Amino acid sequence: MSVGIDEISFYTSGQYLDLKTLAEHQGIDSNKYYDGIGQEKMAMAAVDEDVVTLAANAALPIVERVGRDSIAAVLFATETGIDQSKAAGVYVHRLLELNSNCRVVELKQACYSATAAIQMACALVARQPARPILVIASDVARYDLDSPGEATQGCGAVAMLISANPRVLAIDPEVGNHTEDVMDFWRPNYRTNALVDGKYSTKIYLKSLKRSWENFREQSSVDYADIDYFCYHLPFGKMAQKAHSQLARVNKSGQTAEQLEQQIEPTLQYNRLIGNSYTASMYIGLCSLLENSSENLAGKRVGLFSYGSGCVAEFFTGQIQADYAEALNADRHQALLRERTELSYDEYIKLYHYPNPTDGGEHILAEQTQGAFRLAAICDHKREYVAR
Ligand code: HMG
Repeated sequence: MSVGIDEISFYTSGQYLDLKTLAEHQGIDSNKYYDGIGQEKMAMAAVDEDVVTLAANAALPIVERVGRDSIAAVLFATETGIDQSKAAGVYVHRLLELNSNCRVVELKQACYSATAAIQMACALVARQPARPILVIASDVARYDLDSPGEATQGCGAVAMLISANPRVLAIDPEVGNHTEDVMDFWRPNYRTNALVDGKYSTKIYLKSLKRSWENFREQSSVDYADIDYFCYHLPFGKMAQKAHSQLARVNKSGQTAEQLEQQIEPTLQYNRLIGNSYTASMYIGLCSLLENSSENLAGKRVGLFSYGSGCVAEFFTGQIQADYAEALNADRHQALLRERTELSYDEYIKLYHYPNPTDGGEHILAEQTQGAFRLAAICDHKREYVAR
C-alpha cells in the first residue's frame, strides 16, 4: 500500500500588488524583482481574509468531493496563527461543517510545519488506511515597509488530502533532516511583522539543503539522477535556482544551466504571481509543477526540500501517480489567478495599515473578499467567520 497526496487545492487572495508598482515607488529598476529575486506579483490579503478564510477556501473543493464525514483529522500548519491557544483549524472545521469526531490540531515551525503535518498524516493513514487526513497550510507573509523583505510578502493556503493509494503523489518513507538553532527569521509574540536577517537566511537555507540531502542519502537508495523534478521551499523564485545549482554541484551532476532550469521551472509559475505563503509555498510549487508541466508526469520522481527558518529542514521524495491529471484542480487555480484585481500603491499601503483591533470593542469588517468564507467581525476579542 502506498500513502501520499490524493488531492491538492490552493487558494489565494483576489488582490495583488505588481512589483513594478513597488519598484516605481522606490525609484529602482523593476528587474531587481522580476529577474533578481524572480517575483512578479505579491498577493495581499483583503481586510476580511486571514489564515482561516484562506484555508477554508482551499479545502472546500476537497471536502465537497470526499464528503464531510470521511475526514479523520485536520492538521493545520501555520506560522501566522490568529490565537495563541485555539487552533485555527477549529474555525475551519466549523466553516466546512466537518464531523464532530474529526480531530483538529495546529502545528508550528516556520515554513516547515506543513511537511511535518504531511509526515504525521502519512503515519496515521498507514495505521488506519480507510481514514484520510486533511493537511492545510495557510499563511500571510508580512515584512516591514521599506525593508529588503517587503517585496517577498504574499499570502495563500494549500489543502492536501493524505490517503492510502493516493491519486497524485505517493510519498516515499525515507527522509533527510537538518535542525539547528539559528536566528535567521523569527517573529516574537508581540510583533505582527517578521524580523529577518535576509542574506544570512539564504545562507542557512543552502546549508540546510546540503545537510538534509546528505542525511537523505544515508536513509534512501534514491540518488540525485533518479529524481526528475525538484520542488524547493519558495520564499522567492530565485531561491530555487540558487538551491538547485548547489544541489547539482554537490552531486557533481555535470548538467547544463538549461537542464537545471527544466527541472525546476514548472514549479515556479504560481509562486511568481503569489509571493511567499510560508508553509504553503512549496506545496503551491508542487501544484504548479503538476498543472503547468508540458510533459506527462506519470511515474516521474519529485524531490522536495522543505525549509523553515529557525531552523528545521527536510528532503524527501515522491512518485507521481498514473492518473494524477484527473485529480487536479488546474482550471479553478488558473481562473483564481487570472481574475484577481491589481492594487495601486496607495491601495496597497491602505491595506497594509488596515487596523488589527485589539481593544475588545465591536469591529465590523468591510466586505472585500471574493471567497466563499470571510472574517465578518471581531467583537469582544472573538473572531466571527461566516460563509458568503
Ligand atoms: P536585497 O538584499 O534587497 O536584494 O533583498 P539584493 O540586493 O541581494 O538583490 C537580490 C538579487 O537581485 C541579487 O541577485 C542582485 O544581484 C539582483 P543574487 O546576487 O542574489 O543572485 N539584482 C538585479 N537583477 C537584475 N536587475 C537589477 C537588479 N538589481 C539587483 N536591476 C533578500 C534580498 C532575499 C535578502 C530579501 O528579499 C529578504 O530579506 N527577504 C526575506 C527573507 C527571505 O526570503 N529569505 C530566504 C531564505 S529563509 C526562508 O526561506 C524562510 C522564510 O520563508 C520564512 C520561514 O521559514 O518562515 C523566509
